[in-house]
Amino acid sequence: MGYSIAIDGPAGAGKSTIAKMIAKKKNYIYVDTGAMYRAMALYLIRNHVDPQDMEAIKKACVQADISIEYQDGEQVVLLDGENVNRYLRTEEVGNMASCSSPVPAVREKLVELQQKLASKADVVMDGRDIGTVVLPKADVKIYLTASSHTRARRRYLELLEKGEDADMEKIEQDIIERDDRDMHREHSPLRQAEDAVLVDSSDMSVDEVAERILSLCR
Ligand code: DC
Repeated sequence: MGYSIAIDGPAGAGKSTIAKMIAKKKNYIYVDTGAMYRAMALYLIRNHVDPQDMEAIKKACVQADISIEYQDGEQVVLLDGENVNRYLRTEEVGNMASCSSPVPAVREKLVELQQKLASKADVVMDGRDIGTVVLPKADVKIYLTASSHTRARRRYLELLEKGEDADMEKIEQDIIERDDRDMHREHSPLRQAEDAVLVDSSDMSVDEVAERILSLCR
């Protein structure tokens, strides 16, 4: 096992931004587990699997060939050998992922891949169940959160910057519903591991959050 830093938390708390910064500073590999759940979702969409049909998802996910490569320090997700990174950050894929990620067969397959990566290298891994399920013995565990209001405002500003229309109240409502689903699902719900350090980034800058985590690694 290499050194491992686990960062869990709700959507929009800034996990990937922070995890990338820490990985760069420490020269570790950044493992984005959400991208793996999204790649599985893309596979299911391409194979016309009904998002509500758990049995169909369970059957289909076995066939998906998902692997990870690193190119210039960037994680590249390969689906049947194809780099699918550019297709993963869409609403359609995100919606399918929220239906397929609770299915145990999907989780078993991807958790195995994540554990394999961590056994070979020093990693910063982010997700929902890293400190609780994937790497229960991680050297440092962080539960990174922020108020739903702060997360909604960040998402709102991001959309404005892209020139898209956005309704902040609607975004906050979506965030609250998504948190509720993530925290109350039957398998591997989002929760803070007992030995994880809670970091609330509501009133912290990105640099302050990174510094706090780096100090915990020392
Ligand atoms: O963090 P994200 O938006 O890229 O995650 C995509 C989906 O995968 C989201 O529905 C949460 C789920 N997920 C999960 O269940 N477990 C993880 N370790 C990472 C993501």
